[in-house]
Amino acid sequence: MAIRTIRIMGDEILEKKCREVKEMTPRIQELIRDMLDTMYEAGGVGLAAPQVGVLKRIVVIDTDGTAHVLINPEIIEQSGSQTGQEGCLSLPGKCGMVTRPNKVRVRAFDENMEPFELEGEALLARAICHECEHLDGVMYVEHVEGDLMDVESDLEEE
Ligand code: NI
Repeated sequence: MAIRTIRIMGDEILEKKCREVKEMTPRIQELIRDMLDTMYEAGGVGLAAPQVGVLKRIVVIDTDGTAHVLINPEIIEQSGSQTGQEGCLSLPGKCGMVTRPNKVRVRAFDENMEPFELEGEALLARAICHECEHLDGVMYVEHVEGDLMDVESDLEEE
C-alpha cells in the first residue's frame, strides 16, 4: 500500500491536459493501486491521476463500495440534472453547489485495457463528471454556483 501526495489547487499540474494511456504497464498498474489507496485513505469517492502528479487519463471512483477504474474515459451520454454540494481532495475543507447531469454513460478501458461502459446516476454520475474533468485540467470550482463554502460536517469529498 502506497499513499501518494495529493496535489492542491494552485499546483499547475492540476491545470494541464492529460495524455491517453496507450498500453498497460507494471508502472501504471502500481499507479492505479496507489490511486485507490490514496483515495480511500483520504476518505474521497474519486481521484484522478493528475491529483497525484501524473498526467495520464486515469480515474478511480468508489461512491458505493464498488471500485471503478476508468482509463481514457469518455462520457458518451448524459441526461437529466442534479444540483448539489461537491468537493475535491485537491481543495480540502471546501465545497460548493454544482449542477451536473443526473445520469451519464461513460466508455473507458479497464486495467486490462479492455473497453467497457459504465452507467452512473446521482452521486456516481457526479463523480464521473468531476473526475473526467480533472483529466482536462478543470476543477469543479469553475462550475460553482454562488460562493465556495467551508465543509461543516465530514462530507465525502471527490
Ligand atoms: Ni476532484
